Amino acid sequence: MPPLIVANWKMELSDTDAIDTARRLAETIPSGVEVVICPSFTVLASIAEAIRGSAVALGAQDCAVEDRGALTGEVSPSDLAHLGCRYVIVGHSERRQQLNESNAVIARKLRAALHVGLQPILCVGETMDERAAGKRDAVLERQLGSALEKVELSGSQGFCVAYEPAWAIGSGEPATPADVAVVQERIQSIAQQRLGDDGVARIRFIYGGSVGPDNITAFLARPEIAGVLVGTASQTAARLRAIVAAVRC
Ligand code: PGA
Repeated sequence: MPPLIVANWKMELSDTDAIDTARRLAETIPSGVEVVICPSFTVLASIAEAIRGSAVALGAQDCAVEDRGALTGEVSPSDLAHLGCRYVIVGHSERRQQLNESNAVIARKLRAALHVGLQPILCVGETMDERAAGKRDAVLERQLGSALEKVELSGSQGFCVAYEPAWAIGSGEPATPADVAVVQERIQSIAQQRLGDDGVARIRFIYGGSVGPDNITAFLARPEIAGVLVGTASQTAARLRAIVAAVRC
């Protein structure tokens, strides 16, 4: 499987910039890597159109806990799939920290996304304080244990787990590939306990937090790391192309 490169554009780009960036990427991203762009909800429809037939896939940055209901302001997972999204990020640390998203809510989002055939990208990871207090593994156990508790995968369905330590996000200080490999083994074993061998074989384990063109190959050189989730370094066409070029060298 080619490495997965997920671009999280957060709320950083204006609508016109996002559509323009997506167009440029659609024209220039070669096959051989799997590139997923995750723009704001407001441009998903336009970007789905702009990247049609290209090597670039579409993802959303979040979804609702249910598919239909009285949930003012939320976005239904099946509407995202209908718009052309293949992926959806759930449980990003910015939402956990700034919007108090709980493990229980994230677990429901994960199941709602799987239910409509989206590939969720479940983010887990500890904060700086939790890390300093030696609580990393306990945090991962709690986050993953809760998210995977009632997960049932149908057919050949799979999903991604992104280890994204909050302290590495946007800080310019990534975790080391060696540390990420150790954590990924831990994450895999938690997932194995919850989902068994068949379930764990369907999960792609990726890393996010200050990844850029200079360090991406060191992460992807590790067999435990199947891809990356990139924020800052993915938010212009030139920067994302540089990342893809580094992977293909
Ligand atoms: P970063 O963000 O690459 O800017 O650290 C990653 C993320 O938030 O997913």
